[in-house]
Amino acid sequence: MSSGNPNGPVVAIAGATGAVGEVLLGILEERSFPVGDLRPLASERSVGSSIEFRGKAYPVTLAEPAAFEGVDYVFFAATGSLSKELAPEAAKRGAVVIDKSSTWRMDPTVPLVVPEVNAAALGQHRGIVSCPNCTTIGFVMALEPIRRAAGLKRVVVTTLQAVSGAGRPGIDELEQQQEALRRGDDPEAVKFAAPIANNVVPLCEDFRDDGYSTEEVKLLHETRKILDMPDLDVTMTCTRVPVPVGHSATVLVETVEPLSVQAARTALADFPGVEVVDDPAHCRFPTPRDVAGRDEVLVGRIRKDLASDALWFWQVSDNLRKGAATNAAQIAEALLRG
Ligand SMILES: NC(=O)c1ccc[n+]([C@@H]2O[C@H](COP(=O)([O-])OP(=O)(O)OC[C@H]3O[C@@H](n4cnc5c(N)ncnc54)[C@H](OP(=O)(O)O)[C@@H]3O)[C@@H](O)[C@H]2O)c1
Repeated sequence: MSSGNPNGPVVAIAGATGAVGEVLLGILEERSFPVGDLRPLASERSVGSSIEFRGKAYPVTLAEPAAFEGVDYVFFAATGSLSKELAPEAAKRGAVVIDKSSTWRMDPTVPLVVPEVNAAALGQHRGIVSCPNCTTIGFVMALEPIRRAAGLKRVVVTTLQAVSGAGRPGIDELEQQQEALRRGDDPEAVKFAAPIANNVVPLCEDFRDDGYSTEEVKLLHETRKILDMPDLDVTMTCTRVPVPVGHSATVLVETVEPLSVQAARTALADFPGVEVVDDPAHCRFPTPRDVAGRDEVLVGRIRKDLASDALWFWQVSDNLRKGAATNAAQIAEALLRG
């Protein structure tokens, strides 16, 4: 149901003061998303502050059910528990929810969407659309062109995830630990399971009883749901690295049909939102520094496995942009187009 606002859709952002919320505000400006009115929402901590959008200051108010009256689109970029509590309240009031948390991703009635890959799933939404995990988005953006060219049999992936994947607290922890090391003090680990400065931590989120992490299992199940391949053989290790922005992944993919390196390069380069940066002769490959601030998923190091017909590639994407805010904005644009 439309708010009927004559100036355009009324847009609320729950979590407007967070790492993803801030980037989302910039992306809605950049992409000229038609915002008739804006409601930045957050917790009690931020009530009284304001955010700027298109040169105008908007007061931050409390995320609560009444805040969604007359709203057309709500981006949830806060906590999973807030989405669980308030997304149905927003949908009940006629808004379409685009949720960045993990809460609704595996709900069979909620589409989990990367528009370049499975935009058609949007047709099934009942008021809530879910955005995949920041790692899953870059990963499926690189897998889908390979799938279309030669089919997928088995995928082995190791991710190297930036600290901003854990929001502002993650960014702050890296900076505080770097400062501690400069002073000659021991870095204190709070957000991550071990110090992240000058280190690599082979755990994102929490361990499960089977030895995998919750992040790894999200990557598995979300990939299968988006690609609509419930039995796809994916195995993964997710690690955290001391990089501010930009998730990387090294991927070994076994295809159904043989796929040459050149055919893989062409399939990837032709896919919307993917750019191939792969020139070993000139030491050209993509890094998180190259992708930070960009929406494209960059792929390089495409090569044949030395022991089999499988292909290796390296993929990077900006976890706050395509991994979160840009993907959410693209979903809203697709919904708006109808
Ligand atoms: N960071 C990424 O790369 C990334 C990528 C994909 C998905 N996500 C998901 O996106 C969501 C936001 O992540 P983030 O990285 O932006 O986190 P963040 O930087 O920690 O920001 C959290 C936001 O949520 C708000 N919030 C927290 N508790 C709240 C409550 N009880 N009521 C209302 N608002 C509340 C905060 O408001 P205050 O300022 O008032 O505390 C802040 O605006 C999470 O679900 C995360 O899993 C993040």
